[in-house]
Amino acid sequence: MNRTHRCGELRKEHAGQTVTVCGWVDTKREMGALVFIDLRDIAGKVQLAFDIEKDPANHAAAKSMHGEYVAMASGVVRLRDPKNVNPRLATGDIEIAVSRLELLNTAKTPAIEVRDDLKCDPELRLKHRFIDLRRQPMQRMLQGRAAMIRSMRASLDAQGFTEIETPILYKRTPEGARDFIVPSRAYPGQFYALPQSPQLFKQLCMVAGLDRYYQIARCFRDEDKRADRQPEFSQLDIEMSFVERDDVIALLEGVVRNFVRDLQQDARFAHTGWPVVKAGEIKTPIERMTYETAMHDYSIDRPDLRSRDLKLTELTDWAKTCSFNAFKQAALGGGMVKALRCPGMAEAFSRGQISNLERDAKGMGAGGLASLKVADGKLDGAIAKFFPAGEQAALINACRAQDGDLVFICAHAKEKVVHAVMHHMRTLVAEKLGLLDPSQFALVWIIDFPLFEYKDEEEKLYASHHPFTLPQDLDLVRNMAQAARRSSEGSVIARLKAAGYSLEQVLGLRNNQYDLVLNGVEIAGGSIRMHRTDWQQDVFELVGITKEEAEKKFGFLMNALAHGAPPHGGIAMGLDRMLMLLMGLDTIQDAMAFPKSATGRDLMIDTPNEVEKKLLDELGIQFKPAP
Ligand code: AMO
Repeated sequence: MNRTHRCGELRKEHAGQTVTVCGWVDTKREMGALVFIDLRDIAGKVQLAFDIEKDPANHAAAKSMHGEYVAMASGVVRLRDPKNVNPRLATGDIEIAVSRLELLNTAKTPAIEVRDDLKCDPELRLKHRFIDLRRQPMQRMLQGRAAMIRSMRASLDAQGFTEIETPILYKRTPEGARDFIVPSRAYPGQFYALPQSPQLFKQLCMVAGLDRYYQIARCFRDEDKRADRQPEFSQLDIEMSFVERDDVIALLEGVVRNFVRDLQQDARFAHTGWPVVKAGEIKTPIERMTYETAMHDYSIDRPDLRSRDLKLTELTDWAKTCSFNAFKQAALGGGMVKALRCPGMAEAFSRGQISNLERDAKGMGAGGLASLKVADGKLDGAIAKFFPAGEQAALINACRAQDGDLVFICAHAKEKVVHAVMHHMRTLVAEKLGLLDPSQFALVWIIDFPLFEYKDEEEKLYASHHPFTLPQDLDLVRNMAQAARRSSEGSVIARLKAAGYSLEQVLGLRNNQYDLVLNGVEIAGGSIRMHRTDWQQDVFELVGITKEEAEKKFGFLMNALAHGAPPHGGIAMGLDRMLMLLMGLDTIQDAMAFPKSATGRDLMIDTPNEVEKKLLDELGIQFKPAP
């Protein structure tokens, strides 16, 4: 169409040139004999000038333009008068004196405004996503996303990786979330599942001798909604043969360092204000922390180390002999007592705020949340009177608290509750202390995760990552699996106990998983896998997957492992989640082009939706209305 430049590309240097630009009418200003239009495209905006005296026909054409009309304009680029220079616009030094304006299409008035600082109902933005995506922050985000993916490909291609696509019509496999399933017409009553990740296919690629695989993989998980989750999301998925943990970690560190650098050096993003642009280079090797330390110091396995000094103190032993019954009972009953020292914050919270915090804690299952001020070396607060001087001194000492500090304490028979409350409190306090600067990137690898999680309601062990992760102590796992196999009575855990293993021992087993955490968000997770069937069978045994079941569900994997599987391991990084942090976005939805709403709908194309009865009949499916 004879376009010579993009609107936002024109600068002083183009003055005197005749150019043709195309785009959308952003704004129009009519000033009597003069009309100005800002024409917008993906590169930015440029001012078009029309003068009735010089060109009445084009002036009239300009007057008839409206917002979001599509137009093509040709003319000479000229410098603006110094008083008319617009420093807020990259093209603000110049304008185009238009000699030809062509209307390419009209447009309805959009339901949302095309402006950078749009504030409106997020659902309205999703419903009119094609308009929302006309906004510059969204276009820059998509360009940044593409730049990140390009950088990842370049890093991995340079290191001998092959990009391999794996099927979307897959099979149900356990990865923690619910599957989306797809009925098969050819096989009535049978279903595919959409992959929660390409986990098993990438392992099969290793068995196939492909050595180093990667994929920008679409994953599907039907799980509870959260601001950093989408039912359909993308991973940079990686698998490597003949590697150990440190190889995979070093590889991903290089990939991250490169794409952060590439985004920082890309001129298109210099003025975006994204945290990544200000963050500085990623220093490698990235710090590592064990799961145990993370839980001890921060009560979460994805600690936000921007507030690294805001550590928790475990008071369980102190509480066992303390004089306050609620703490004592929790501690003696196998529970946990933890404190958060808030430096200099004795007066930082109002009474109302404190009672809101107590309400939050109760909402998480705690009986309450104690708050004590420290003054003159003593505790001060509603429950201070229950603690004799010696106990007060021991508590203050354990927390390294000083006069002017505030200490929050939570006690509960279930460690899980204490961890949840204390993590929540730490986040709030860090925020209040101004420690959560989004452009400070605190990266940490969490390692030495427990091999299993235990759900006491079900009396069942679950693989804490996925059941393909290599345990650290294979001998102990082997012995436990053998003990569990000796009887088929009762739960696995009951059988292990009968064989003399304690729950602590089982939960004390560690695996070869590694998670990369950025500012308190898990952005990547991976592990070294089991490449031998006997090891895999042992772990299946302990998570209660019988040989028959394993055969039915993972026969293909077991068979492959038995055909010369090499030692292998890998990792997957959540692309959307990573972008959210790099760009300082509030939700993961803003990191992708066409996300689902908070309730899992695509509001623009309006799906999920009903399908014709004929189609259901073909699939042999009958819809059963909710009771
Ligand atoms: P995992 O389940 O830890 O590992 O997922 C890897 C990363 O994917 C991102 N992620 C999500 N992002 C958006 N929405 C979601 N619902 C969502 N769920 C996960 C996170 C997470 O760190 N197959 C293994 C990887 C491996 O072992 O190699 C896996 O998928 O950033």
